[in-house]
Amino acid sequence: MEVGIDKLGFYTPQYYMDMADLAEARHEAPGKFLKGLGQSKMAVAPITQDPVTLACNAANNILTDEDRAAIDYVIVGSESGVDQSKAMAVYVHDLLTINPFARAIEIKEACYGATAGLQAAVDHVTRHPERKALVIAADIARYGLASSGEATQGAGSVAMLITANPRIATVNDDSVYFSGDIMDFWRPNYSDTAKVVGKYSTEKYLEFLDQVWSKYKERTELTLDDFEAICFHLPYTKMGLKGLRQLLPEVSETKANELLEHFENSREYNRQVGNIYTGSLYLSLLSLLEQDETLTSGDRIGMFSYGSGAVGEFFSLTLQANYKEALLPEIQQKLLTNRQSLSLSAYEEMFQETLPTDGSSQYLSEEPNVVYQVGGIEEHKRLYQKNN
Ligand code: HMG
Repeated sequence: MEVGIDKLGFYTPQYYMDMADLAEARHEAPGKFLKGLGQSKMAVAPITQDPVTLACNAANNILTDEDRAAIDYVIVGSESGVDQSKAMAVYVHDLLTINPFARAIEIKEACYGATAGLQAAVDHVTRHPERKALVIAADIARYGLASSGEATQGAGSVAMLITANPRIATVNDDSVYFSGDIMDFWRPNYSDTAKVVGKYSTEKYLEFLDQVWSKYKERTELTLDDFEAICFHLPYTKMGLKGLRQLLPEVSETKANELLEHFENSREYNRQVGNIYTGSLYLSLLSLLEQDETLTSGDRIGMFSYGSGAVGEFFSLTLQANYKEALLPEIQQKLLTNRQSLSLSAYEEMFQETLPTDGSSQYLSEEPNVVYQVGGIEEHKRLYQKNN
């Protein structure tokens, strides 16, 4: 029996910072951000969006009433959670009105959490093929104003419905994963921005890719020629290009050029959104599937997941017949084109806005054109609302 991704949904907030404007403000050459990092826009979350609402907005676009009744496992992968104890998936499960007889958990391991969630969901549906699982990657990437990582921030969420006989892609049973205790990127409990050793993190990303890819080839006896395209975790899109270039000496020039062409399609959405941590790999997959016109059913897509700290995983998907019919590219186009560009001062103000942490109440006004939003806070309890 085949199990995998039946539906894919995406959400990103309605504000962004233009990377050429950010470069100018930080006295950098625009080419550094646009080409050197491969980013053109950076999504910025207003105070009315947090990872819970990002998750709900991404899932809301893809779920039918039948799905809501059949889902019995809700997994949110995130590293920017809103509570040390309560799983964001519990809020999400309730806000999305999913079958109450469901498990709802949160998985954390930096940007890798959603991949662990996806594999757990596939195992669950393999045991119970009549059920469905909802896996959501939701994050707001924050390094701090004028920090070394600022140009690699972003915000957004990707939701995946996992079922038997999926319409988009099966998840193959070929995963290779690798863990090692390193301090390349982390966020202590007392900090709302990440700490990072930038250059070291990029070296470790490539080292972990080498570890899992070498072992994958040994275990499966597959080679790069067996893959039509490879999707990478994209903290910024140039990072994935570096990863791909590391693999290309293994294939002919013609194959290398084909893989590079597919890669361009796989980074189109990420270039306009920035790092969404757990969701970056899956946004890249969505971008590839929606932007690429040459892929066909049966094609094998490689997936490299990396979460700092660190865990890496390489696995593959096989595209299903008529997978394009299960996608909703018009929703992504609308989301990305209807956003509002922020001035530097508006971005900095939005970045620093927080809800009270002293137990007092604050209520936020309704955001137009947004379904799920943060409504405010009362006695340390975050309030969520669904707008009509
Ligand atoms: P930096 O030191 O400011 O940038 O930080 P740089 O000097 O390395 O320049 C970046 C690139 O721009 C270089 O290209 C330059 O040559 C080029 P490269 O040599 O790397 O190919 N450049 C130009 N190109 C064209 N025109 C120009 C120009 N000027 C320079 N005029 C860094 C960059 C990524 C380190 C920083 O932004 C950072 O620390 N970001 C956060 C960490 C990060 O994203 N790490 C990635 C790997 S770790 C990971 O993926 C996990 C993560 O997602 C977290 C998680 O798992 O939870 C981060």
